[in-house]
Amino acid sequence: MVQFTIDEERCTQCGECELECPAGVIRMDEYPEMIDAEKCSQCQHCLAVCPVGAVSVLGRDPDASTVLAGNFPDPGKLATLIKGRRTVRRYSDRDLPAELIDELLEIANHAPTGVNNQGVLYTVIKQGAVMNRLREVIMTQLTKLRDDGKMPEGLAGQYIGYAVQAWQDEGKDIMFRGAPHLLITSAPQDAPCPAQDTLIGLTTFQLMAHARGVGTVWAGIFMMALSLWPDLSVKLGIPGNHIIGYAMAFGEPDVEYQRTVQRGPARVNLVEGVTGG
Ligand SMILES: Cc1cc2nc3c(=O)[nH]c(=O)nc-3n(C[C@H](O)[C@H](O)[C@H](O)COP(=O)(O)O)c2cc1C
Repeated sequence: MVQFTIDEERCTQCGECELECPAGVIRMDEYPEMIDAEKCSQCQHCLAVCPVGAVSVLGRDPDASTVLAGNFPDPGKLATLIKGRRTVRRYSDRDLPAELIDELLEIANHAPTGVNNQGVLYTVIKQGAVMNRLREVIMTQLTKLRDDGKMPEGLAGQYIGYAVQAWQDEGKDIMFRGAPHLLITSAPQDAPCPAQDTLIGLTTFQLMAHARGVGTVWAGIFMMALSLWPDLSVKLGIPGNHIIGYAMAFGEPDVEYQRTVQRGPARVNLVEGVTGG
């Protein structure tokens, strides 16, 4: 049963909700009705598109949504955010406020998911002390692996080797770059698009983090370590039936960038015609 109610005082019977519904489960009678609730994908497009805020679905009050008109970011500034985001490899050791992390997670959770599955699990470390403990546990384990001659071949062995070396020689953490927080996204393997959903969630988190002055780094060496030591994901409370998308360390930057880098041109494969069929 999906709650779907129309404020008849407000509804102008324009039919936008019926036109918009991707599942085709809204029908205009005198007022809109939901005709096949089991097929509703719970996307809330009916609530989002209504010009007068007359649609409530899934118990959501349309007046509690943010109005879009005049509230989108300026495209030039958004482009500068995208181009000006840098991988941050120097962090202060101060914890971010827990409410800021919650806000970023709440916004990241607006990222699209295949078939609106919304199954992404955000595993997060909010306390620098917990993060420090994780660093020690991982480095101890990896040092043992190296000392036992069990390092894998190839890139993973090479990078994990660098991380162990830096930790042992200089007490330097190149795995998380000294960041006080960690985010790992995972999703049930039987979700429609778990790999894509987890990466889109992290990317969305990253962009909003930088907009709020929070630095991030995709934690590739940690992912390599995780592949050698799957028990670690269990220790972190990630369900066994989940696939892990990726991990991202984050925190208050101890570096300030002054300008964008310069890239491109983008590699573009322009399709100008299609033969056959
Ligand atoms: C999937 C992925 C994994 C990455 N892993 C690491 C990593 O383990 N350590 C690191 O310092 N940077 C890592 N990076 C950051 C890249 O090196 C960085 O994005 C690239 O050098 C471009 O720099 P920019 O992000 O500042 O534009 C990773 C980036 C991606 C997308």
